[in-house]
Amino acid sequence: MGECSGAASYRLHAVLAQLRRLLPYLHRYGWRYTVGATCVIAAVALRFSIPFLLGDSIDSLRETTDVAPEDAGRLREQILVGALLMIAAAAAGAFIRTTSRLMILGNSRLAVHDVRTDVFAQLLRLAPSFYVRHRTGHIMSRTVNDMQNVQGLLGPVFMYLVETGVLYSVGIAFMVAADPMLTLVGLAPFPFFLYLARRLARRVQEGSRAAQEKLGDVSAKVDESLSGQRVIRSLVVEDFDRQRFDELCLEYRATMVSVAGSRAILTATMTFLAALSTFLVLAVGAPAVSSGAVTVGQLVAFILYLGMLAGPTRTLGFVLSSLQRGAAALGRIGEILDMPVTIADGHGEGEIRDGEIDVSRLRVEFASSKDEIFLSGSLEEGEVRGGRVVLEDVSFRVPAGTTLGVVGPVGSGKSTLLRALARQVEIDPGMVRIDGNDITELPLPEVRRQVAVAPQDAFLFSDTVANNVRFGEPEAPMEQVRDAVEVAQLSADLDQLPAGLETMLGERGINLSGGQRQRTSLARCAILRPRVLLLDDTLSAVDTHTADAILARLRPLMADRTTVVVAHRLSTVRDADRILVLDEGRIRESGTHDELVALGGYYAEVYAQQSQREGLERELGVEEAS
Ligand SMILES: Nc1ncnc2c1ncn2[C@@H]1O[C@H](COP(=O)(O)OP(=O)(O)O)[C@@H](O)[C@H]1O
Ligand SMILES: [Mg+2]
Repeated sequence: MGECSGAASYRLHAVLAQLRRLLPYLHRYGWRYTVGATCVIAAVALRFSIPFLLGDSIDSLRETTDVAPEDAGRLREQILVGALLMIAAAAAGAFIRTTSRLMILGNSRLAVHDVRTDVFAQLLRLAPSFYVRHRTGHIMSRTVNDMQNVQGLLGPVFMYLVETGVLYSVGIAFMVAADPMLTLVGLAPFPFFLYLARRLARRVQEGSRAAQEKLGDVSAKVDESLSGQRVIRSLVVEDFDRQRFDELCLEYRATMVSVAGSRAILTATMTFLAALSTFLVLAVGAPAVSSGAVTVGQLVAFILYLGMLAGPTRTLGFVLSSLQRGAAALGRIGEILDMPVTIADGHGEGEIRDGEIDVSRLRVEFASSKDEIFLSGSLEEGEVRGGRVVLEDVSFRVPAGTTLGVVGPVGSGKSTLLRALARQVEIDPGMVRIDGNDITELPLPEVRRQVAVAPQDAFLFSDTVANNVRFGEPEAPMEQVRDAVEVAQLSADLDQLPAGLETMLGERGINLSGGQRQRTSLARCAILRPRVLLLDDTLSAVDTHTADAILARLRPLMADRTTVVVAHRLSTVRDADRILVLDEGRIRESGTHDELVALGGYYAEVYAQQSQREGLERELGVEEAS
């Protein structure tokens, strides 16, 4: 340990501050927790009644030897009643104890479910910039881990704290009632043992965590060796590979052995504690029995009380470290819950009907990390890019129902432009208007429904193709799903899949090719029939021929809709009503395809290069991957 008490008390303060977050959840399941806690108290009282009854019976037993026979009969009856009472108390205690566990531990599942739902809802609400800063893998593993610790708080930690608290107070009350002096003597070694228990508990927990990680290494190694076994064999490095595996296994074994050692020491220490306090009580109590101040029964009961406190003292070591870890986890979860949702909902009443876009002097600056949240060292700080202007002085108009093409080098701000139009990044009022409504005033659900983005890297869920397509419109009938799939030119691909639209994708299913994924995400947008469709290089992984076919199919569908198409391949935007060339966040060129080619600038140059290459590829019969 070694921290000074100041640090320790600060930690206690911090722990309490974090625990306040749980109050709403505890409150929601208040009556169940109350019943649970009441059962804990009742069970403890019943447990303590056993030594009490036993002590009484022993005293009665002793008396039977030196009383008249008729009195002895009465005493024997009394002892029998005592024994029956003890059995009843034990049975009732066990029953009530089980009830308390079912109540509190079951409750913790309900309550942690609510915490989890709240955190998930918040994660979905958070501005996309959060995800630029924090790796999703980290967010996931941290939250999953933290949730477990929080559940510990809501369940076992709560229960053991109540139980231990009640055990100590009831136990001490019983003992003081029997003999205050003996109580002091018996409890004297406890603080020292509690300290030991905490240290050992921490060592066991840290060791267990390390063992878990080592086991993870071992499984990762097995996975790697099995999937790479052909390479391993062809390079004849089996021995080397086995040696590496052996090393990992040995490390795992060593950690496990050390954990078992700490556990054994902990058990031994606590057994010793019980023995030591028994010894002290006997040493001090024996003369008191001889002098008649204490009865033998009371002394036996006393030793049993002390024994009942040794177990919880051991558990308390674990409970206290779980409490600390739980509070830290709660702190991290709290940071996520407290994060400002930077995209504020608009308060206007506006509606998007035609999809006319009017952008005037759009400027997008990404805040530096200082203004933004990052989880106080608990999450690894992701990519942080300091306050930089990504779009500057961008103005253009897209009349309703027309198509705008956007091209430009990587990093010129094309994706950011689309995200500004879909209100996925925060912008100042007055920069983007749709149908005359300032986008920052429009209610977010309206924007989300009417402005659909098919992103550069389509994300598909582990679900069926059909459900992925109707993700934004879960109620959409199969007819519409088929139409959308048709528009996205995905039907032929689906015929190749084992179960067509019902084929499972992702982790528990098959993986689609890049082009197929893009077309699935396009279908996902098409089914929404939005007023404004934004395609972020959505056809990049689709071959030219299919891309043309998709555009042809989209055109009638989009006849009265507004489309903004970002593209790498200029042939994709050739037929757009107007094309913008972005460079370093500014508009460099703008016009129709013919105008831009005639202009002889960036567009003309790239177009010449691409047509040459495409011509060459056609001649050589090179197919682009779809
Ligand atoms: N959330 C963000 N925070 C900070 N910088 C960003 C963020 N998103 C994009 N950028 C930066 O903005 C610039 C434009 O990016 P982007 O719009 O993705 O370009 P393009 O789509 O044209 O390749 C890049 O330099 C990128 O690093
Ligand atoms: Mg981009």
